[in-house]
Amino acid sequence: MPMQPPTSIVEVRQQIARIKAGGTEFITNFFLDDAAIEQAIRAGTLLFAFNDDAVVMVRRGALFDRVYFADGNRASLSRTLASVPLAPDGCLISDLIGTAAETAPVIDQFVSAGFSRFTEFRSMYRANSCNVDVERRAMAEAALEEDAEQIWSYISGYFDPYSEHIPDQQEVLTAVKARTVLVTRNGGSVSAILWYDRKGASSILRYWLVLPQFRGRGLGKQLMARYFNDCADVRSFRLWVQSSNCRAMRLYQHYGYVLASRTDYILKRT
Ligand SMILES: CC(C)(COP(=O)(O)OP(=O)(O)OC[C@H]1O[C@@H](n2cnc3c(N)ncnc32)[C@H](O)[C@@H]1OP(=O)(O)O)[C@@H](O)C(=O)NCCC(=O)NCCS
Repeated sequence: MPMQPPTSIVEVRQQIARIKAGGTEFITNFFLDDAAIEQAIRAGTLLFAFNDDAVVMVRRGALFDRVYFADGNRASLSRTLASVPLAPDGCLISDLIGTAAETAPVIDQFVSAGFSRFTEFRSMYRANSCNVDVERRAMAEAALEEDAEQIWSYISGYFDPYSEHIPDQQEVLTAVKARTVLVTRNGGSVSAILWYDRKGASSILRYWLVLPQFRGRGLGKQLMARYFNDCADVRSFRLWVQSSNCRAMRLYQHYGYVLASRTDYILKRT
């Protein structure tokens, strides 16, 4: 399928609706919101292609291209995925969210199309009922606009660019202005970060990072306490944690999070 930029968000949504209406076993991993689609169309980074059975989309990035699909029939998914061109020296990343049982046959289709399992993230949630001792929360505070560059450099330096969404500097600034990035300081410098998003009655923790030289001194706890305090009106807290990061998983459990059934599988083709 030759790939080209969509003319508008309406064209993308229409093609997906057509596939959904005509399919026998509709399946998709395309959950971008309208703002993100519009931004990608404006930037010229979204390409798509379609045939009678499927729509496939690629969002171009500096390091890799992210693949989205909407397929009317699960059995044809590997053909759809195999049709996505690989840029020279490039790589394709895609992801799939669901329980192990739901996703196993779909992952098989990815594998047939040349993808391999790269990593996976477990979903955790916490009801807003358990409290963390907040005695030292005053040491964690909302980040200032002048911290944005440092926050961006810590996040992009520490987290994996293939599997964890690394924000651009503008995104950091927007979150800082919304006061959803908490920090602790050592002198004038940021020593630890907790970034969260709020959506309706729930909140998602995106990054929790203490610089290595400051770990094990209670900074992570102060950020958590301030986070739960700032979001006291939220009904549930959610996050995704890399399943190999046993320490973080244990700490989240310590703060009242429990494992949910869904996993986000990250797949890669090189
Ligand atoms: C996870 C992380 C943010 C924790 O920050 P931290 O400042 O080291 O944590 P704290 O010193 O505040 O300790 C937090 C809790 O863990 C406990 N703890 C600390 N080190 C521990 C260890 N080695 N073993 C067991 N428990 C430990 C503390 O006692 C504290 O519990 P408390 O609330 O009962 O006092 C930090 O280790 C980090 O940045 N890791 C890398 C990034 C990461 O994995 N982030 C999470 C996934 S996105």
